[in-house]
Amino acid sequence: MASGEPSPGTGAARRPLHSTQAVDVASASNFRAFELLHLHLDLRAEFGPPGPGTGSRELSGTAVLDLRCLEPEGAAELRLDSHPCLEVTAAALRRELPGSEEPPAEPVSFYTQPFSHYGQALCVSFPQPCRASERLQVLLTYRVGEGPGVCWLAPEQTAGKKKPFMYTQGQAVLNRAFFPCFDTPAVKYKYSALIEVPDGFTAVMSASTWEKRGPNKFFFQMCQPIPSYLIALAIGDLVSAEVGPRSRVWAEPCLIDAAKEEYNGVIEEFLATGEKLFGPYVWGRYDLLFMPPSFPFGGMENPCLTFVTPCLLAGDRSLADVIIHEISHSWFGNLVTNANWGEFWLNEGFTMYAQRRISTILFGVDPDDTYNETPYEKGFCFVSYLAHLVGDQDQFDNFLKAYVHEFKFQSILADDFLDFYLEYFPELKKKRVDIIPGFEFDRWLNTPGWPPYLPDLSPGDSLMKPAEELAQLWAAEELDMKAIEAVAISPWKTYQLVYFLDKILQKSPLPRGNVKKLGETYPSISNARNAELRLRWGQIVLKNDYQKDFWKVKEFLHNQGKQKYTLPLYHAMMGGSEVAQTLAKETFASTASQLHSNVVNYVQQIVAPKGS
Ligand code: BES
Ligand code: ZN
Repeated sequence: MASGEPSPGTGAARRPLHSTQAVDVASASNFRAFELLHLHLDLRAEFGPPGPGTGSRELSGTAVLDLRCLEPEGAAELRLDSHPCLEVTAAALRRELPGSEEPPAEPVSFYTQPFSHYGQALCVSFPQPCRASERLQVLLTYRVGEGPGVCWLAPEQTAGKKKPFMYTQGQAVLNRAFFPCFDTPAVKYKYSALIEVPDGFTAVMSASTWEKRGPNKFFFQMCQPIPSYLIALAIGDLVSAEVGPRSRVWAEPCLIDAAKEEYNGVIEEFLATGEKLFGPYVWGRYDLLFMPPSFPFGGMENPCLTFVTPCLLAGDRSLADVIIHEISHSWFGNLVTNANWGEFWLNEGFTMYAQRRISTILFGVDPDDTYNETPYEKGFCFVSYLAHLVGDQDQFDNFLKAYVHEFKFQSILADDFLDFYLEYFPELKKKRVDIIPGFEFDRWLNTPGWPPYLPDLSPGDSLMKPAEELAQLWAAEELDMKAIEAVAISPWKTYQLVYFLDKILQKSPLPRGNVKKLGETYPSISNARNAELRLRWGQIVLKNDYQKDFWKVKEFLHNQGKQKYTLPLYHAMMGGSEVAQTLAKETFASTASQLHSNVVNYVQQIVAPKGS
């Protein structure tokens, strides 16, 4: 069993946190009753045919949890998060016995309890209640086949189309369908894993170390404490190439050259800039795994091994902001973590701020990216507002570093962060900046609507103005082709084109014939391979019912399965003409089997809403 440590991180006495009292309504577990010292997974992967029954594709083996009882009165059972797709076949318990080196494991009884549509409780009963501070080990034998946590892909769904592939996606609450656990970001622990794969496959995990053990086994150890949602596994026909002193790219063999080409040398620069700003990079290595096209996100910040969509292989490094974003999570999200999903903006708002600090330092003008969701952008505005109150960028950068240092390896609430902010800047505290009318911290966090303060984005104006003006020209009833042709868009950056297309979309439907002309005038847009451009061209095509290009929408949806591209396009199709709606239904019917199960559920709601 792992040895206990006084407190996470430095071992120094740390401030009492609001988060120690917080509940997590998304967890069915009794995670406050135990300290989880270590998790070990010993799993074997089989790629059989889909569906239930022996010989089908599944993970099977054991999960071993090292625990310490925290209940002053002791505890009679351990309640874990689990999922109906996960079949536990045996549970055993090893208890600390005075004088015995390795006490025997004895079988114990267990049962499940319904909890919600995304999970159930797995209750392990102790024959005698464990005492306060007692150490125990719980061993669970289980298997998991098809389900929301473990995604199995057939060979046709991979880039190489030769071998099957499997991966897990934990955030937010899917890892309870991968292994039984305290599936709450409030709890952090170290893990190890031994993964057995069929001949010719490679396993990778979000772990500090990767070790081959014989031809078919891989051993992993994560030596920093992390929350359950950051444990990730992928198995496939994978190879890797070095792209920096502490990073490799992993991909199917047919993608590895492109991956290496795109990222060679740049990752180290991003990491070093992050370290300068936010303090040491504690995770050792930073590898990238290029996922099959149906991966539902741009990127997922699994520690030591970010999972990314193959759409990032744009050939021109234009989508590096996604990598900078995921790298920023190394400090914000992975080191300092939201204690429950209601505080998600602490992960994403800070990460947006960090991403833009790194980009500003490396590239000067902030290459504004393309996401506008509340925890991301309103969170970013709030952090920008707090920086504005401080007034001095260097001082605020120093504060961010201190913030990471203060809370590293812990999970926090917004109140923990705000207390720290006001203590760090006593002049601001004295001025009661937390209750400035109209800008109350409480209002920022708890009132829906537009943020009360917007950061100064004027440095981007000189880049955005021409795009806005050009969009205006294209919205005219009579096109002024002379004025249009006078604007050369070939030197524009991808995000300027993106902004231009967003403006066109806002003004759509355009007068008859304009979209056809637009597509002909800019083949670099209408035939783009860059996913951000393809998404927007597809949205414009649909909003204008430009049926000649409908096939491009279909092709794009067949080529990748990213949630942020897929859902807007289905919304646009279902909000469009008869022909567009038919396109939606046909495309969904032929791609559903390739999509992540969460994405399937969302698209289903758009295409055929329940109760309709
Ligand atoms: N952690 C998120 C992805 C995520 C969020 C997965 C919520 C599951 C639930 C990741 O860091 C992210 O934000 N990815 C973005 C890219 C980014 C540049 C905004 C994405 O996938 O689009
Ligand atoms: Zn993120």
